[in-house]
Amino acid sequence: MTTLADRFKITDAERDQRMAFLHLGRDDFQLLAGLRPLITPHIPAVVDAFYVELLRHSEPRRFFINPKTLERVKAGQRAYLAVLFAGEPDDAYIEQRLMIGEVHERIGVPLKWYIGAMGFFLHRLADALQSEPSLDAGRRLAAVLALTKVMNLDLQLAMESYASLSLRMKTLDQRIRETADALNSVLDKNGESHA
Ligand code: HEM
Repeated sequence: MTTLADRFKITDAERDQRMAFLHLGRDDFQLLAGLRPLITPHIPAVVDAFYVELLRHSEPRRFFINPKTLERVKAGQRAYLAVLFAGEPDDAYIEQRLMIGEVHERIGVPLKWYIGAMGFFLHRLADALQSEPSLDAGRRLAAVLALTKVMNLDLQLAMESYASLSLRMKTLDQRIRETADALNSVLDKNGESHA
């Protein structure tokens, strides 16, 4: 079965290169994984705050007319944020990130909201880390930097699948138009020869 990682050529070497460029290393993942017990209790409030903010705006509100969708997406978001603190990315992690981009492109979430959401989560998670008295300033800073790097990697993956699906849709749209034009010209010719 072809995976999204195959389609986007995210091999182990490609992943390593991206991580090297971001200076995202094993120590970052270890640091974040060590903070998991501290951060987990904050996650539901971070997600709730995000939807309070998002649903103030009419454009994103239209995606959540069905309350069941909202509940499902909130659960997906909580899981997404928890995985940021789950250690090094494996194949399933990469696949999930690519899938998230495709889902949002397919349902038509404009990029500005998606990228804005990443900014919101980073900000709120950083606030949560700042409020932890058991962390010294150096560890807090290291944690926020590690989080920034991991979220940058995620954003790269999501944006690539976003852009690729968009390109495929445009190509499909173009083909449909060309076929419709060809069909119309055949029909026009037939009409002329019968006139
Ligand atoms: C950091 C940015 C975001 C992440 C990580 C994220 C993550 C996810 C995940 C994991 C799912 C799948 C949930 C499931 O299992 O059904 C999902 C679905 C969805 N997301 Fe997001 N999301 C983000 C931003 C947004 C934004 C900004 C919007 C709207 C403006 C949005 C709207 C939706 C909707 C409507 C679905 C449900 C799609 C369906 O019907 O299956 N998301 N999101």
